[in-house]
Amino acid sequence: MELIFEKSRPGRGLSLLPACDVPAYAVPEEMVRSADSGLPEVAEVDLVRHYQELAERSFSPAKGLCPMGSCTMKYNPQVDELAAELPGFTQIHPLQPKNTTEGCREATDLLKHYLCAYTGMDGISLQPAAGSHGEFAGMLIMKAYHAGRGEAHRDKILVPDSAHGTNPASAAMAGFRIVNIPSTEEGLVDLDALRAAAGEDTAGLMLTNPNTLGLFERDILEITGIVHEAGGLCYYDGANLNAILGVARPGDMGFDIVHLNLHKTFAAPHGGGGPGSGPVGYKAFLEKYVPQHLTAFYGNFLVEMKALAYALTIGRDGAYPVAASAVLNARYLMQQLSDVYRMAGEPCMHEFVISAADLKAKYGVTAKDIVKALFDHRMHAPNMYFPLIVEEALMVEPSETESRETLDRAARIFREIYHLAQTDPDYLKAAPHTTPVGRPDEVQAAVKPVLKYEII
Ligand SMILES: Cc1ncc(COP(=O)(O)O)c(C=O)c1O
Repeated sequence: MELIFEKSRPGRGLSLLPACDVPAYAVPEEMVRSADSGLPEVAEVDLVRHYQELAERSFSPAKGLCPMGSCTMKYNPQVDELAAELPGFTQIHPLQPKNTTEGCREATDLLKHYLCAYTGMDGISLQPAAGSHGEFAGMLIMKAYHAGRGEAHRDKILVPDSAHGTNPASAAMAGFRIVNIPSTEEGLVDLDALRAAAGEDTAGLMLTNPNTLGLFERDILEITGIVHEAGGLCYYDGANLNAILGVARPGDMGFDIVHLNLHKTFAAPHGGGGPGSGPVGYKAFLEKYVPQHLTAFYGNFLVEMKALAYALTIGRDGAYPVAASAVLNARYLMQQLSDVYRMAGEPCMHEFVISAADLKAKYGVTAKDIVKALFDHRMHAPNMYFPLIVEEALMVEPSETESRETLDRAARIFREIYHLAQTDPDYLKAAPHTTPVGRPDEVQAAVKPVLKYEII
């Protein structure tokens, strides 16, 4: 496909508007561009076709299943987008006089009220713009809390090896030392190891629940009890809240701080570089250590408005069905596949992890080959090679919005690929066969991304 710059022809353009009849403003000389801008010149119809072609080449939940575990690309209701597009929300500025933004602040207060109710927390800061940003803010809260009590020597954060990768990264960025807590055979926190690690230098625990194997920590109350007894605080990575919404609350499990990914659970798309929101919930005794409206004004306000629209739609009674369907869908698909693929850990919550280690050993077919083959079936890839504690991992999350028919189709495709791994592994190793780009050099794409067109 040609770039829009390659389609450009001098003099061609979007002459849709009549000639301007307003006297021209004399732009000061020093502000006038000295060279041509180099922007592409194309007719409107070519521009429309260009973007249409790009849209057709990209994939989204509006096109098909995106069973991407952990990063959860689920379908988000259009009505929430429409609500966030209301001019009263889009046409404001954070520096407007306060008495002109009362409605917007009422809306954010209402969202906070819902998020407190869903998490069992006493307060919420909407400042952080992503889940990991929320984690970082949470770690700074923890740090300030211990320093405020004259216990700045508490510099260790206990992080189970089943935690999301951002957890240890955020704690390290906040200046803490990380103590890795191993998992049991079952994939749950090893309580003996936790007990042995918790002590006078413990600042706190950072726990992802359900963890990255999609498992709910059965001994959750004991876990928080051990950390509190050692004088530490408990941080809950609540990015996976769609698995427990309306069923259980981090606040009731003994957690002091929690972050949510509004762009996973509450109706904003995740990934693709779009704006996110990672609010931090806290118990009342931490109030004075919480970020104020200093850095990003009111956070990512329009993402918050989508989340509010979603919360108002599901309310209290609609929260439980979200979690129930998320778990049911994951368990259903896992069940459909567990006689062929090897599963890591069960019973799963909202996501499950396949290990393709056997297929690799027997037929040389890797998790990546399976993922590439899915593209030929108009299906997005699950997360791959994550969590790190599972060899050849594929992390599958069908999400709560998918129908049984969609899950049955996905199961058929996964089974077909399994069959091909045994009968024609070379075909899989060359997949995908139907996409414009097959196997780009991922290392080069990551280390030397070409993100802009060089205008000569
Ligand atoms: C469990 C978990 N924690 C934290 C994060 C980090 O969130 P973000 O990508 O918004 O920084 C994610 C991302 O999906 C996640 O799945």
